Amino acid sequence: MFCFVILLIGLVSEIKSQVSDDGVCPRVTTQNDFDVPRLMGVWYIQAHYPDGFGVAARCNKAEYTMLPNGTVIILNTKVMSNTGQQKSSISTLDPAGRGTDGKFSITFPVGPENPPPPYWVLETDYESYAVAWSCRSLKTTKNFMKHIRYIWLMTRTHNPPANLFRRMSNVVKKFNISFEDIERVDHANCF
Ligand SMILES: *[C@@H]1O[C@H](CO)[C@@H](O)[C@H](O)[C@H]1NC(C)=O
Ligand SMILES: *[C@@H]1O[C@H](CO)[C@@H](O)[C@H](O)[C@H]1NC(C)=O
Repeated sequence: MFCFVILLIGLVSEIKSQVSDDGVCPRVTTQNDFDVPRLMGVWYIQAHYPDGFGVAARCNKAEYTMLPNGTVIILNTKVMSNTGQQKSSISTLDPAGRGTDGKFSITFPVGPENPPPPYWVLETDYESYAVAWSCRSLKTTKNFMKHIRYIWLMTRTHNPPANLFRRMSNVVKKFNISFEDIERVDHANCF
């Protein structure tokens, strides 16, 4: 059973650009007075944990749309580096509370989990950048904790100025989130 769980986590992590590590999640805070509608629209993913299957992708884009009941649909598209083929998938966010605390749960297209992992907006100005984060601490054995994390550094344009990268990096640093494994996404010659 234990082996199966580890194998499953490994497999899922391949699919969903997540990383797992020893210890518990770093302590983070979310964007003050978060305004859900202002997060809607197109975001370009500039950095995240690597895509799965060892196949690189580029031009990663996420389009956020809010439904009348408050559920947010994310249409993800990317171009596979090896074939040049465009791939898309849909994830959904549901507000964990009132939504104004920037805290949601996320359902990924592959391997839905129960309960769904968190999706927290750590910081955004809505108009140029956003840093979103997901982390769960899990007990693997009696005295051993691990955590599974995702991060998305997003901007409103394909090729943002360097100062936006610095702002996003500062968020990562502020919360002691490891830079290890965070990978830049290539946005050259995108659609
Ligand atoms: C919101 O509406 C969508 C589409 O009708 C539905 O799939 C989803 O389950 C609803 N979410 C909630 C939290 O009721
Ligand atoms: C980050 O790490 C530093 C040095 O280890 C520590 O002093 C600081 O309290 C940590 N900050 C957070 C938000 O965990």
